[in-house]
Amino acid sequence: MKFLVTGGAGFIGSNFLHYMVRKYPEDYFVCVDSLTYAGNYDNIVTLETYDNFKFVYGDIRNADEINSLFLREKFDVVVNFAAETHVDTSIKNPNAFLETNVLGTVNLLNSVKKMETIYKVKRFHQVSTDEVYGDLPLDRTDLSFDENSPLHPSSPYSASKTSADLFVLAYARTYKIPVTISRCSNNYGAYQFPEKLIPLTILRALNNEKIPIYGNGKNVRDWIHVKDHNIGVDMIIRHGKNGEVYNLGGNSEKENIEVVKSILKILNKSEDLIEYVSDRKGHDLRYSMNYNKAKMMLGWEPKIDFKAGLKETINWYLNNKKWLENLENRKSDINV
Ligand SMILES: NC(=O)c1ccc[n+]([C@@H]2O[C@H](COP(=O)([O-])OP(=O)(O)OC[C@H]3O[C@@H](n4cnc5c(N)ncnc54)[C@H](O)[C@@H]3O)[C@@H](O)[C@H]2O)c1
Repeated sequence: MKFLVTGGAGFIGSNFLHYMVRKYPEDYFVCVDSLTYAGNYDNIVTLETYDNFKFVYGDIRNADEINSLFLREKFDVVVNFAAETHVDTSIKNPNAFLETNVLGTVNLLNSVKKMETIYKVKRFHQVSTDEVYGDLPLDRTDLSFDENSPLHPSSPYSASKTSADLFVLAYARTYKIPVTISRCSNNYGAYQFPEKLIPLTILRALNNEKIPIYGNGKNVRDWIHVKDHNIGVDMIIRHGKNGEVYNLGGNSEKENIEVVKSILKILNKSEDLIEYVSDRKGHDLRYSMNYNKAKMMLGWEPKIDFKAGLKETINWYLNNKKWLENLENRKSDINV
């Protein structure tokens, strides 16, 4: 099968490609990425030595470019990771999120639809997020989101991801495009751009710089190792049912402050580095995923324990100083 993997130079997409390219030598993977500030060719450069991998610089906002690519490559499977992903940036500049996350996704769907007269794409998989459900109260630990929970996004980022999900489902119903959607909780692991909590904390702690924490640090996220997420995406693509949404979660809910303190402890750094800053606008309180459907229907569940995964992740950043240095040289981009 020939895969189009959009956003494959980003954090989760690059981990997906490292997993898939090696696991399925009989399949072929084309990574399309426009290398925004969050995209990083360093994340995938080592895959260039594999015969079943190719990088193409491209932008999902450009319908003509995407159509020609489909015509040329005749993809069997599309996995759409490409997105603007930082909530804070979405608060400052919502339009960029509308353009890539919504219009870009619709462009990809249109290409799949256009190809129907020539050949049929077997699966369009949309990589979505738990944030489409909004948040849960901190004092209701009995509650979690399942696939039928109301869509209730809080930020321009989550609103754009929700809109994209709705377009994907509408194209499935209206045009019979074979789609699946995965909605996953907060990922951590190698190759994550250090604007997000875990790599930001690691980087700042290593440089003995202040680590900003929103509000009182009590907001709760459900952490999943990126490898567990990607195994889930692979299982959904191969065994999931057309038109279905699958939640993926880490079963590992932690307060932000707890995560930061764990990193400081592993790195043997002082908690004095923590700096509480004014809260994010509309900050979601708690996410919690019920992934029983993926467990029952696909036999998927997260395997990597958070403590062990966090240690492994920190070691990855410690052992990949060159990767971090290259990012340091782009510090104006990082803006953290
Ligand atoms: N990070 C998480 O915790 C998390 C959790 C659940 C779901 N997701 C979803 O997973 C996907 C990947 O997230 P991530 O954390 O790897 O993001 P990321 O920001 O690290 O990577 C996004 C990638 O998309 C590329 N991109 C952006 N706009 C593009 C465009 N117009 N055309 C082509 N490429 C473009 C970027 O260059 C980058 O390589 C996103 O759709 C996100 O919503 C992320």
